[in-house]
Amino acid sequence: MNIAVFASGRGSNFQAILNAIDDGRLPARVALLVSNNSKAGALELARSRKIPAMHLNQKQYSSEDMYEERLLELLERHGVELIALAGYMKRIPVKVIDRYKNRILNIHPALLPAFGGAGMYGIHVHEAVLASGARTTGATVHIVDEEYDEGPIVMQKAVDVLSGDTPETLAARVLLVEHEIYPKAIAVFASKRVRIEGRNVWIQ
Ligand code: GRF
Repeated sequence: MNIAVFASGRGSNFQAILNAIDDGRLPARVALLVSNNSKAGALELARSRKIPAMHLNQKQYSSEDMYEERLLELLERHGVELIALAGYMKRIPVKVIDRYKNRILNIHPALLPAFGGAGMYGIHVHEAVLASGARTTGATVHIVDEEYDEGPIVMQKAVDVLSGDTPETLAARVLLVEHEIYPKAIAVFASKRVRIEGRNVWIQ
């Protein structure tokens, strides 16, 4: 299966996806890397692996329509069948969400539906978990739909909050779990072992 990875930052989840492909755990190929950030580590990583990499930002286009068309054309040209958002900080245009219905995944560093939605990104998520007194957090892979962080949940794994945790120490342990479950969840889609019934995603 041809996948596109969208990433805005350092790209450690992208690296985890590439590792899983390299050692045969993930039957897929990264056909395209898209980043809105010209300085993203993920762009550099793609280029070093000779993966087509595009710096694409809505600001480069005079209208949202043109941006959407360009993105769709790019996905089509590279034969993309599934999109994996990996620390992607921009909204996905509605036309792309429609075209790729149930074929866009995201990784979120908490157990959704808790600690998701507006403002819940990066270190803020872990700060909110600690401030809430929750004893458990984790990582969630979900399908992307029009509502931010609200699409059907595909896979989750819990991480204990430990005495003495700071947002940074918690983020580091959650990140390890992200790297573990994201390639697994993508593999489920790549090998078509998934059945979606409303909000329930069943893995076969
Ligand atoms: C991860 O914590 C991911 O859950 C969040 O953004 C971060 C991206 O990290 N959405 P990386 O760029 O994959 O290292």
